[in-house]
Amino acid sequence: MMINGFNITSGVVNAAAYDNAKGIVLFLCKECLQGLGKLELPSAVAKAVEAYAAIHEDMFEVGTINTLVLPQEEGLLTVIVAGCGEGAECKPVAFRKAAGEAARALHKAKVGKAVLAAPILLNPKRGAYVEAITEGIYLGAYTFTLFKSKETKRKECEAVLLSAVAEADALVAKAAIAAEAVSYTRDLINLPGNILNPVMMADEAVKMAQTLPLEVEVLDETFMEINNMHAILAVGQGSNNPPRMVVLKYNGAGDAPYTAFVGKGITFDSGGISIKPDDNMGEMKDDMSGAGAVLGAMKAIASLKLKCNVMGVLACAENMPGGRAQRPGDVVRAANGKTIEVVSTDAEGRMVLADAVWYACHLGAKKVIDIATLTGAVIIALGKETSGIVANDDKVVEEIKLAGKYAGENYWQLPSLPECKEAIKSDVADLLNSAGRAGGCITGGLFIGEFVDAGIPWAHIDIGGTSTAEKTAGCKVKGGTGFGTLTLIKLAEML
Ligand code: BES
Ligand code: MN
Ligand code: ZN
Repeated sequence: MMINGFNITSGVVNAAAYDNAKGIVLFLCKECLQGLGKLELPSAVAKAVEAYAAIHEDMFEVGTINTLVLPQEEGLLTVIVAGCGEGAECKPVAFRKAAGEAARALHKAKVGKAVLAAPILLNPKRGAYVEAITEGIYLGAYTFTLFKSKETKRKECEAVLLSAVAEADALVAKAAIAAEAVSYTRDLINLPGNILNPVMMADEAVKMAQTLPLEVEVLDETFMEINNMHAILAVGQGSNNPPRMVVLKYNGAGDAPYTAFVGKGITFDSGGISIKPDDNMGEMKDDMSGAGAVLGAMKAIASLKLKCNVMGVLACAENMPGGRAQRPGDVVRAANGKTIEVVSTDAEGRMVLADAVWYACHLGAKKVIDIATLTGAVIIALGKETSGIVANDDKVVEEIKLAGKYAGENYWQLPSLPECKEAIKSDVADLLNSAGRAGGCITGGLFIGEFVDAGIPWAHIDIGGTSTAEKTAGCKVKGGTGFGTLTLIKLAEML
């Protein structure tokens, strides 16, 4: 399967594996260098790498690309040593990053046939590294060129990943499906608001679900009115593009309880009447990254036919100012009966999610995880590499963190103190949609928790800092990262 210009298959380690290759990628940490001899490399390659290593101390830094070009009988052989760290750094996450860099180096060197090798894969128990390298190559090679009139052709690369892992074939296939899903999520994030509005997002979800064992339902404004979903309706009412809620159901475990993944799908967030400053407002096309991650994860979960029951709920709306837009000071009643005083129309994510997490519970979900570009405050608190978690149940948090470890995505739980709930109490309504700057990521999360049925374990993931990357590095490419997609897939595997 060709994804982002790569097709990866698995193979076993032997001298013949390197025949006809135009490129060899060696994934090495400092200690792994000792195992180079066991890879049965052409002797000229092994010699060149050893000589190079003798004089380059920093070559093992995670993600460093060292390119050696050796003459062959016919043409040249590109040898790429991808640094995977030293000591305890030699973990799958380092290999995923290094593979992302290696993918771009292979494309740059126009390598059409490559072999990927790593001493660590001589250990049959290193399946997680097989997955990480495969995901890293596919994701690092991602590009978004939809709107480029002139096509820039890259040389497609057939790559064979050598290992002693018995189930490598299945792992490579699984990683391909996961990487394809993350690429799909990235595409959705990178689409601008004029192309991807809430209706288009719903249409896309229906189209995607048709080819897979997924049940799909699209709720329009009329349905929302009938079900008293006045929070999402209020957010959407300022736009000519009406809101949509999308429910995708995957049944892979009979009558076991459903877990719900609920995503914020604001296809463009101008702030509404509480309008945002104009600098970089265009970045708010990414405000549907949570819904994008849910949609991508559902695609992979159904493709992999995982043994779990999962529903995905996308809460889609466009937040615009206008004559029909909601005003600061408005009071609206959400579907669960609680009233909300709208302090800021720019705190719209928690409003669409209020009705969406309620609907997930209404449909019978026994565990709820929402994912959203909810606040700028999470960037101040945790930076751009870590997503924040606010939850009512520590077990769900541990599950997310463990899945994140396998996915190479970082999480940090924020305190969910009852004291903080005081801040979102309103004088005129039940709740305020904004409690200002103090602990913004916490109060935003706690607000959403008020709409989850009592007794249902719930966690909120704030991807405000992680949903996009400012520069290309490792397996991230500038633009939408697809953060959360892999975590949700691995979480579903664990259910
Ligand atoms: N989508 C934004 C959050 C955001 C902003 C994420 C910048 C990433 C980068 C969200 O809808 C928003 O506007 N949040 C406000 C909340 C405030 C009004 C309580 C914020 O973070 O300023
Ligand atoms: Mn906003
Ligand atoms: Zn927003």
